[in-house]
Amino acid sequence: MKSLKNNLYTETGWEVFENHFNEDHIITTGSNFLIGNGYLGYRGTFAEWEADRYTACIAADTYDQVAPELRKELCNVPNALFTRLAVNGETLDMRPRDEQAEYKRGLVLRDGRYLREQAIPTEQGTLHLKVEKFASMANVHLIAMRYTLRADADIQFTIETGIDGRLWSLQGEHFRTSESSVEDDLLVMENITVEEGIKVVIAENTLLSGEYPEEIVEEEKRTLRRFDITLSAGEILTLEKTVATYHSNDLAEPRKAAIELAKSESYENAKISNAAAWDEIWSQSDIEIDGDLEAQLLTRFNLYHNIIATPRHAPLPIGARGLATQVYQGAAFWDQEIFNLPMFTYTQPEIAKNILRYRHETIDGARGKAKRLGFQGAFYAWTSGKTGKELFPDFFFTDLTTGRKVRNHFNDWQIHVSPDIVYALWQYYEASGDWDFIIEHGAEIAFEVAQFLVSRACYRKDTDHYEFHRLLGPDEYHENVDNNAYNNYLAYFAIDIALTIFREMEDKNKDKQDKLMRKIGLERDDVLFGWADLHAKLVLPEPHATSGLLEQFNGFFTLEDVPLTTLRERLIDPDEYWGYPNGIAVHAQALKQADVVQLFALYPDLFSQDIIRANFDYYEPRTEHGSSLSPSAHGLVASMVGYHEKAYEYFLEASTIDLYNMSRKVLSGGEFLGGIHTAACGGVWQMLIFGFAGFHPKDGMLRFTPTLPKAWTQMRFPLTFQQNQFSITLTANTLEVEAATENTKAIPVQVGDEEHSLASGETVI
Ligand code: IFM
Repeated sequence: MKSLKNNLYTETGWEVFENHFNEDHIITTGSNFLIGNGYLGYRGTFAEWEADRYTACIAADTYDQVAPELRKELCNVPNALFTRLAVNGETLDMRPRDEQAEYKRGLVLRDGRYLREQAIPTEQGTLHLKVEKFASMANVHLIAMRYTLRADADIQFTIETGIDGRLWSLQGEHFRTSESSVEDDLLVMENITVEEGIKVVIAENTLLSGEYPEEIVEEEKRTLRRFDITLSAGEILTLEKTVATYHSNDLAEPRKAAIELAKSESYENAKISNAAAWDEIWSQSDIEIDGDLEAQLLTRFNLYHNIIATPRHAPLPIGARGLATQVYQGAAFWDQEIFNLPMFTYTQPEIAKNILRYRHETIDGARGKAKRLGFQGAFYAWTSGKTGKELFPDFFFTDLTTGRKVRNHFNDWQIHVSPDIVYALWQYYEASGDWDFIIEHGAEIAFEVAQFLVSRACYRKDTDHYEFHRLLGPDEYHENVDNNAYNNYLAYFAIDIALTIFREMEDKNKDKQDKLMRKIGLERDDVLFGWADLHAKLVLPEPHATSGLLEQFNGFFTLEDVPLTTLRERLIDPDEYWGYPNGIAVHAQALKQADVVQLFALYPDLFSQDIIRANFDYYEPRTEHGSSLSPSAHGLVASMVGYHEKAYEYFLEASTIDLYNMSRKVLSGGEFLGGIHTAACGGVWQMLIFGFAGFHPKDGMLRFTPTLPKAWTQMRFPLTFQQNQFSITLTANTLEVEAATENTKAIPVQVGDEEHSLASGETVI
């Protein structure tokens, strides 16, 4: 057994448990021990808890706005695992108080199962509780729980279990009606959302070991079954619940579907099919680490959360906090393409494709945003939900010293989201060879983003160059800047990709190209003069001749250069926002998160190692890492420039953002920001694969420049490339690439300076 921070431990690297309960950490532990499947996210709370302890089951594709002044967000749906115990009429407070008491709570990552074991003292004796639950990966509509009690004396108690519709919801009550009924011996709750009128139906089936009198108890927004139980010493009671959730965005008759599923599935069968589905997922994406059990657990914990945050059942967004809370409205940010997706692109490409299809399906929202702001083409939302319309409010943070709301411009000026999406779709194409995807979905996105960029760029007659003004780069502390380096390079490459797709289609798919051009009103002159001109004349910040530094944006180097520690001392309130308009970083060379460094993470071949290192050395000490996106980007670039120990430190920082940092920025600038930092989870995969294994595919070739962290003896992982499977094993001195026997073509592989062609069933060391 390996003890970890915060009373956590793991035995095999496949599970993580806490053995001490801390009431102060319930927001974070509720997120950390989340179960989910990309459709539902059920927090890792106690079954006996209610809304006041942040219990939630968040459902994908249920965006709803309670009132015009409030934000649209995903709904937290009624909690059908709610179960409470009472002895002598008094509800038991289940919080373990005694440090020595039998208690553990956590996750078995192997099959996405939550487990809790606890001794519950009563006046009559002790009840030993075991709770096991999972959100099925085999059928995403299903959540199941087994609640087992063993008595060590004769104990009489009451158990009430059912559906709790009294919900914790950040922006208020989403259900205008909530009706419960009993049908076919199931408890059913049907709810209609306030704005969109989405019908959400929950059907709950309970199976008890033994015959006990049952009574239905109706409370406000709650429907429960009550059982009076007597257990004799040594006797065990098992309660199994299978819960089905459907809503009217899934299908026309959610009630029928929910009832059928809850009725037909037994706990044990659901458990077996869920485990089989997880086996398949892990065989495609697990990273095995030998020699460092903690690193193994941290890695799997992050992969797990990236997996359960990602919808696999439909083209829908990955939320910045997944389905762990309603924070950031359950919507997609640039995090999705730049942080979450690469893991799927190279391990489960169908999932990456699904998410990219979501960007295609929501392109009208992006067109609408461009038009509203006076531009052409597609300007993707900074915060994108179901329709792609901008969900982010103009006023977000609060000035903590004045109490006034701050006008932020993330949605108006953070235009890099659009080229980021083009980057990701091209990465998917290069990894999969799926040209059909480009024709059907990718081309329209790339062309419309190119149109947007052309209309958004400013042409300067005096220099005969294009510039981008009024920007925010990834570093959000500096708003209203010109020629942000990350932004301009990403825009340049997006235009480059659009031109490449245009030329290829002209050659191979002329009919489709003509049809697409007619559909979006694109003229050849737009391409030949607009895109080509921007491509030829866009200002791209160059490394300084002697220092090698790229300026993050025009004038960045003229800002006050002050150490972060000194800057921090200027805070009046520790939770104060550092950025626009009056934050302490606004007029300083202090970054929130990787910006120029982020550019290198995406384009490792853009500059020489010396240039990348010089910039890393300059920007890293000036970066506050105020965003959870920052450590993994730094870790990846640290690996690239040979800072291996630093890279490892960043791996530890990024991979523990949620698991160890129990109170990290749950509040910032007056905003509740709790939940899983899913971008960091995806970033951990990238640090290991792009960083430690040095995997940088290029022109159809698998390339590796590996360095294994010192403490590790081996790292193994699967990759999918050009629809072929590979298994990679890395030790301190060797890297072995094995091509699966089912592979259909030979793929060139480069390790260090050596190149090989790897046919099916072959191995190269
Ligand atoms: O997209 C990020 C942004 O880069 C930093 N703040 C949080 C957002 C959502 O994760």
